[in-house]
Amino acid sequence: MPDLAPGPVESSCRALRGRAASLSGNPFLVEGCLDHVEDALILIEDGRIASFGPYSDTADRIPPGVSVRHYENALILPGLIDTHVHYPQLQMIASYGEQLLTWLSKYTFPAELEFADQTHAERVAKLFFREILGAGTTTAAVYCTVHPGSVEAFFAESQRFNTRMIAGKVLMDRNAPAALLDTAQRGYDESKALIARWHGRGRQLYAVTPRFAPSCTSAQLDAAGALLREHDGLFLQTHLCETTDEIAWVMDLFPDRASYLDVYARSGLVGPRSIFGHAIHVSEDDFCTCHATGAAIAHCPTSNGFLGSGLFRMFDALDPRRPVRVGLGTDVGAGTSLLLLKTLGDAYKVAALRGTKLDAQRAFWLATLGGAEALRLDDRIGRIADGFEADLCILDLAATPLLGFRTGSCRDIDDLLFVLMTLGDHRMVRATWVAGECVYDRGRPNDPLRYPFPSDGAQP
Ligand code: GUN
Ligand code: ZN
Repeated sequence: MPDLAPGPVESSCRALRGRAASLSGNPFLVEGCLDHVEDALILIEDGRIASFGPYSDTADRIPPGVSVRHYENALILPGLIDTHVHYPQLQMIASYGEQLLTWLSKYTFPAELEFADQTHAERVAKLFFREILGAGTTTAAVYCTVHPGSVEAFFAESQRFNTRMIAGKVLMDRNAPAALLDTAQRGYDESKALIARWHGRGRQLYAVTPRFAPSCTSAQLDAAGALLREHDGLFLQTHLCETTDEIAWVMDLFPDRASYLDVYARSGLVGPRSIFGHAIHVSEDDFCTCHATGAAIAHCPTSNGFLGSGLFRMFDALDPRRPVRVGLGTDVGAGTSLLLLKTLGDAYKVAALRGTKLDAQRAFWLATLGGAEALRLDDRIGRIADGFEADLCILDLAATPLLGFRTGSCRDIDDLLFVLMTLGDHRMVRATWVAGECVYDRGRPNDPLRYPFPSDGAQP
């Protein structure tokens, strides 16, 4: 089978063939949203999906001279979407024994201090892209550090792969080591300069990123609100109600606010492009506010289990009477894996511990179209459908002997998807396509990545 990328390209048309599945609506709200085609043809023109349907019905649309990349014993899915992750924390993922606030000061802040060194930031950014593309993730909402250079390094790497990414400089003007603090004015100025440079450049989008209420003064939160008012289409990402100790601290720091969410609301930070990480210990009022304003929650189950933060109330959040937008986040380095398949397996366990059942269609919606809805990008990513950006993740159904054995006896697509999310394993990811180009191919000789990691031996 010819390898279509990298290499000289005569036309921008690409053709993929194989079994494919994609959600077209929210299965928490409506039934029958799964588009599943046993033998599909996906035609791509200029980075977008031009047609998706059964191979037998659509093969005559393949332009002359375009070879078809046939993925056998595989499943083609939309690229996976991570709605909450910290790329600078790769260095301290899997740090032992603490809950959130001690974990931050003991492990996280020291790792983030190293991003004063631009070379370090560039190395970690490269490693991050290598890891997520090898995990089938094509879009993420990403926290950088307080250093503008950390954002520069991140977006520069994203530009190379042409990935659709949301990221921003962390804002912190208190309760962290002095070398990690900005001020309300400096955070505003630096964010504004980064917005001018990166927001809307290619596929890059900017998120104003106050870390969380305890590390920001009211003046800084107000400055974040001003940035949102002054620019179109910006995102706001922060943390909300992750642990009970954190909530008590917020209520001490902001005694005149009605709730943790109200701290953000009073600075104009709760709106349709706001993404709140965790939201485990929120009230019914908070869910109503998120529903009414269109704000989203990033559910981060591997992180919540690892730090012992609590069990997110997924089915309450998605209650059809006032559904809140919910996506899935890995939250590395508190999360234990960048692989969204594994994160889905943990989301199932969190739901089970709450006495509920997260079925495979709902789970894969969370990792694809649900994530896109949470990020307000559901008109362009998260689906395999005509006109959508051609970000795809191809899973190998026989990546290991056990997987081949187990998937061989799957009765239907629901059964298959559930096995994939439960056994979530990096070896399953056979290829990742970004805007119509194959950027990761497990079988590519020398290096599976389109832009290899520098091999000078000096790993981050
Ligand atoms: N709350 C504030 N900062 C962080 C962080 O880096 N990770 C997590 N999980 N929670 C936070
Ligand atoms: Zn986080």
